[in-house]
Formats: sequence, structure tokens, C-alpha cells
Amino acid sequence: MSTERIIVGLDVGTTKTVTLVAEIDGSENVRIIGVGIEPAQGMNKGMVVDVALAAESVRASKRQAERSSGYEIGRAYVSVAGKHILAVNSRGVTGLNPNQGVVGNEDIERALEAARAVALPHNREVLHVIPRTFTVDGQDGIHNPVGLHAYRLEVEAHIITAASSSLRNLEKCVTDAGLAVDRFVLNPLASGEAVLTEAERNSGVVVIDIGGGTTDIAVFIEGTVWHTAVIEVGGNHITNDIAHVLHLPVVEAERIKVEEGNAAPDTVDRDAVITVAPFGEDMPTQLLAYDLSQIIEARVEEIFSLVMKDLKRSGYDGLMPAGAVLTGGTSALTNIRNVASKVMRLPARVAEPGNMIGLTDKLHTPAHATGVGLLHFANRIDTGSSDRLGTRPRRPRREGPDIGKAIGDFFGRLLPDD
Ligand SMILES: Nc1ncnc2c1ncn2[C@@H]1O[C@H](COP(=O)(O)OP(=O)(O)OP(=O)(O)O)[C@@H](O)[C@H]1O
Ligand SMILES: [Mg+2]
Repeated sequence: MSTERIIVGLDVGTTKTVTLVAEIDGSENVRIIGVGIEPAQGMNKGMVVDVALAAESVRASKRQAERSSGYEIGRAYVSVAGKHILAVNSRGVTGLNPNQGVVGNEDIERALEAARAVALPHNREVLHVIPRTFTVDGQDGIHNPVGLHAYRLEVEAHIITAASSSLRNLEKCVTDAGLAVDRFVLNPLASGEAVLTEAERNSGVVVIDIGGGTTDIAVFIEGTVWHTAVIEVGGNHITNDIAHVLHLPVVEAERIKVEEGNAAPDTVDRDAVITVAPFGEDMPTQLLAYDLSQIIEARVEEIFSLVMKDLKRSGYDGLMPAGAVLTGGTSALTNIRNVASKVMRLPARVAEPGNMIGLTDKLHTPAHATGVGLLHFANRIDTGSSDRLGTRPRRPRREGPDIGKAIGDFFGRLLPDD
């Protein structure tokens, strides 16, 4: 039976707002049928700082997506980022009915509920509850306990929460723009859906989405999410450094970064010059491409050092043989991969979103990993149809903005085929 349906992904970034309309049917590809891309307003470091302005840019991107798709859209999967995100690992335990004795999906949901019931301050909300591994009657390291005989089921879950106030601000600008929130999704989880291969996810990998205002990371090990973090440094900081050090207007600093930027000065011709337009009526002047590259390298090194520090703190830094997958607009920077590898001592690749067909012309760039990833998230996790592992979630699909949806994310991957 076909499960085809229309869904909408809304990536409210620091520099751009993107609305994507897609047809999903649970197969590997999402079919993009509408695209709206607008410069962001009212955002800072991944968070809404001016609801009216942010709503304006959401509304504009929504209109564009409606025009290009021919659909009127009413709800969307919405990406969330910012310093207000917190993630913890938690355990949940449940007993099983001794007469029945076999683990079922309801038992897993109960164990996840218990894990979710960690002390949650009243000003925070749960975004995702992701099962990492199960222990059945003391036997640990089990990925799929369904069907096992047991008296006691324990789950180790990764729980991601967000500040209620930040979520409400984001929700307000989305609803003011005429869209209901289908579901909030943490930025790097969406990006991971768009850029990671199943092999990377299974062997251990970190996805690093370097945007304008934030760098969002998610560690996937054994097929699921073990760690997430949001770091408040991104491409805008590189632009500001260039503007500051070279005494240039921010717009000009941004232009030379994108057009001429290189994160590895040792690959830059020492004599190469770049022509720039300084402030006001001043005549164009020239600067060394090498100097520009040194400014960029310093900030890019800082970003990867911060990521590495966070990975070390998480304790999972040695568990990523597949290395780092870089995405987000800033990962388009020439030679950024080399800097990532050098600083983090990990293999690294730059990735743009994949597995999409249809209106994809504008989306073949790492900046669109989150937007496209929201569609994959909906396709693989919320539809109840096959995912790439060939497994099939039996969980009934829930409609509407439902925080209960946070329970059991990525669960589809753990269930056996019918
Ligand atoms: N070719 C390029 N070289 C260097 N930087 C680039 C390039 N293209 C885009 N960028 C930078 O990428 C950043 C925007 O990335 P992206 O679109 O992923 O951010 P965002 O999603 O709006 O922000 P965030 O995710 O931080 O909230 C900007 O700082 C921009 O200058
Ligand atoms: Mg982004």
C-alpha cells in the first residue's frame, strides 16, 4: 500500500529561511516539489530574537514554496538550534508481565517513558528521546530486544531538551507566518539524515553542521545518536574577523570570504592578490590572498578545537572510525576539510544533501543539509514506512504537534521486518 504524502520542512537558520515541500513515500528518495529560500531576519546564533521579523522571512519563504509547488501549505517540520539545547543520557527500566514474558513495542515505549522522566525543569521541553542500547535481564548491548524473553527491560536513551521560551518564540514566528508545527527537530539530527551513509552511522561518525551563527554536532554510533551539541560559533564569525582585521565593510568581507576564501594558507600562492572595495568612496585596494586565508584558518581551527573539546568531554571521541562529515554553508569553504582533519585527527569529508529528486537545482549545496534532512527525518522516522535498513516501525503515526512524538525517535531502525 502506498503511503505517499506531502510534507514540509522549514529550516529557520541564522542567515536564511528555507521552506521545502516534498512528496514522501518511505522510499530512499524524497521528491522536492516546492522551494522557498529567503534571507533570514530576526535571528541570532540560531535563535529567534525578533519574532515579527523572523515571521516575516518565514512567511516570504512559505509563499515562495507555495508558488513553486502549487500547494497551499499549513504545517511543517521545523529545525531547532541554539545554546538553549541540552542533551543528556538517561536510563529507564520497566518490568515485564511474567505471564507474557516477551518484549513488545509497548514495553520499549514504557522503558523510554521512564528514561524520559528524568528531572525535567518546568521551563524545558523534551525534543527527542532516542534509544541507544537495551539491557534485557542484565544482558547489555542489545539493539533490538523485541521478541526476547525477559522479566526486566532497561534502555539507555539520549534525551534532548530545549528551553520552553526559545521553542515558544520559534513556534510563534512559524504560526504567525500561517504554519502549524508538525514537529520540532534538532538541527544536526536533520542534517545527519541528509548527509550520512548507513555505513558511517553504524561504524561511528560525527556530523558537523557549520552554519552562519552556530556549529551543530551529532555523534552517531551503532546506527543511532549518542551525543549532540550546539556551539555558538559559525561562518558569521569568520566574516566579522575579516571585516575587523582588514577594515572592510561586512558585506565586502562576506563576499571575499565566499569568492576567494581558503582555510589552508599553505595552499595559497604567496603573491596572489585580491581586489576589495573598502568603506565609502575610497578607491578599490588590494590585499594578499594569503593574509585573508590566515584570518580564516585561525577561526576555522578554533571551531574544530571547540568541537573536539566537546567530543572529548562526551567520552566518545575514540569511537568514530568514519570520522567527521562536514556540512552547512561554511563547509563550502575551500580546504576546510584539511583543517578539520588536522585539528581533530579524524578523516573528514564535506557533504551536501543527497537522496532527493525533483526541484533540486538550488539544493545541491551543504547549506541545505538541514532543510532536506527535515524531509528525510519525516520520511524515515515518522511515516511508518520502510527505512534504509529495511526495517519498519510499527508505531502508529501520530498527527499534530505532539510532544509524545519525541519518544522513540529513530526507533524504526531497531525493529525487525514484518
Ligand atoms: N562558498 C562559501 N565559502 C565560505 N562560506 C560560505 C560559502 N557559502 C556560504 N558560506 C557561509 O555559510 C554561512 C551560512 O551557512 P548556512 O546557510 O548553513 O547557515 P544557517 O543555516 O543560516 O545558520 P545556522 O545554521 O548557523 O543557524 C554564512 O556564514 C556564509 O558566509
Ligand atoms: Mg543551519
